[in-house]
Amino acid sequence: MSNKYAKSLVVVRELDSLRRRVHDWRRDGLSVVLVPTMGALHEGHIKLMEQAKKMADRVVATIFINPKQFGPDEDFSSYPRQEADDFETLDVAGVHLLFAPEAEVMYPPGFATTISVAGISDILDGQHRDGHFIGVATVVAKLLLQSLPDIALFGEKDYQQLVLIRRFVKDLNIPVDIIGAPTVRDPDGLAMSSRNSYLSTEQRAKAPILYATITEAAAEIARSREIMVTIEQARQKLISAGFDAVDYVEARQADNLAPLKSTSDSGRVLAAVRLGHTRLIDNVAVPTR
Ligand code: PAJ
Repeated sequence: MSNKYAKSLVVVRELDSLRRRVHDWRRDGLSVVLVPTMGALHEGHIKLMEQAKKMADRVVATIFINPKQFGPDEDFSSYPRQEADDFETLDVAGVHLLFAPEAEVMYPPGFATTISVAGISDILDGQHRDGHFIGVATVVAKLLLQSLPDIALFGEKDYQQLVLIRRFVKDLNIPVDIIGAPTVRDPDGLAMSSRNSYLSTEQRAKAPILYATITEAAAEIARSREIMVTIEQARQKLISAGFDAVDYVEARQADNLAPLKSTSDSGRVLAAVRLGHTRLIDNVAVPTR
């Protein structure tokens, strides 16, 4: 089914259409990259599509606001929905195929299976968002298994999500390469996010302090090797900057998110804060010396 907004983008809403198109491309020797999203597309998503175009012959995007990754008190019903604009954006970006299913296609009556990645689903964001990563793993596994692309591309902006996806893809032997893409930021450093549209002018002015604080902490860890002290200072800075809550700020090992004990391991500083009802997450690499 093509869509009236599209010039060359083909929009499909059923699993068998997705499966068939990707299968035919691969049979014809074309490589395929999958880029899953929840829509409300911004510059960060567009950069992912552009990177995807360089990696494979055909780019498949998905838009599905996955109800299973939102908690009961979270923003599922208010999450920005702008399908017509998103179709246009993907078309202009040169995406070949968009899979945009209804919820019943992904979760028909009787749906009962979930994927839980022990040790990763329940730490950091998982501690503050009950069931979130089970919902993410379940939907991403379904998208990968139904399309079976060569590559799937995810942003480092959601770093824990990327580590989680790499883990279950390896554990379940799903034959796809998972690639991480750098975080795209506004000029003042704030990581682009569909949820930034929730911020008031005053909150938006405060938001970049998150990136500034974790960047400074990561540099300080690399310089002084004082991991615990530096993280505690970063927490204090975020609190005094006036964030309404600091859910966590942590230094973790980049590959498996275990606590960072030594700077000889490659490290990542990750944080989540709240401004009113809006939750912001961000993370940066600990520079290597
Ligand atoms: P969503 O938040 O729409 O993000 C879709 C993809 O874009 C993810 O891989 C995310 O990490 C990436 N992304 C978002 N903001 C970015 C930025 N500023 N820079 C670089 N990449 C960015 O993440 C999800 O949707 C969902 O959890 C999903 C994986 C689609 C499963 O439902």
